[in-house]
Amino acid sequence: MTQESFLPDPEGPEAEPEFDAPHDRERPDEPDFEPDFDSDQPANASAAALAATASTLDELREAAAGCRGCDLWQDALQTVFGEGPYSDAAAEPERIEMVFIGEQPGDREDVEGRPFVGPAGALLDRALGDAGIDRTKAYVTNTVKHFKWRPQPVRGQGFRGTGKRRIHQKPNQEQINACRPWLDAELGMLKPRLVVCLGATAAQALLGRSFRVTRQRGQLFDGPGGLRYTATVHPSSILRADSSQREAAYADFVDDLRNALAALS
Ligand code: URA
Repeated sequence: MTQESFLPDPEGPEAEPEFDAPHDRERPDEPDFEPDFDSDQPANASAAALAATASTLDELREAAAGCRGCDLWQDALQTVFGEGPYSDAAAEPERIEMVFIGEQPGDREDVEGRPFVGPAGALLDRALGDAGIDRTKAYVTNTVKHFKWRPQPVRGQGFRGTGKRRIHQKPNQEQINACRPWLDAELGMLKPRLVVCLGATAAQALLGRSFRVTRQRGQLFDGPGGLRYTATVHPSSILRADSSQREAAYADFVDDLRNALAALS
């Protein structure tokens, strides 16, 4: 894969690009941007305990809104749960064939409460369209359901500065593990024919810490829950690619998505 040289350290802990640049924006500070957590939730409401109370995706989404299984809820505006055309009400809902899993919501997603609605989401939508995949028929979610961020340092004040812009930070293993029951429950209820991991955080969470997107992208794997999995790069890596590499990186991404679609036939 010749187009990956734009990644500074493709297999290191920073393998997936931080996508702060597209998310650098003012934090909305109007009064209605209060976190919408249910204040009745116990402080230690873990994902596993809450997920166990849900028997439908709607119930799961509702329960996840009160999750305090790790510390990320404190600084995020809301839980950003997965979304797709599932129907808890229909007797025989149409099966969702593909689930796409990113890393964690970004700034825009945190504000809107929906996954992949910011710049990375726009690129994902375009690539899905080019690959012939209808996003409205797929389920899109994240490995971690809260936005992890730090304030933009103010010039001259180092990290003591508290700028309003929110800079994405990669979730750590503890936070990924704490959020895992939600992902397992989503996949367990949806039972898709194929799970597509977008980037190393999702791929390593589901396919093992030694998984390398750079080497193993586009291949098919059996994984948790008895489901089929494949992995490709995170769309943010394309946004961050050097402009001379971006087109090729995008074409490779679309190829992976096309192959994922072909695996369903
Ligand atoms: N990046 C992700 O991994 N997920 C989102 O929802 C948005 C950006």
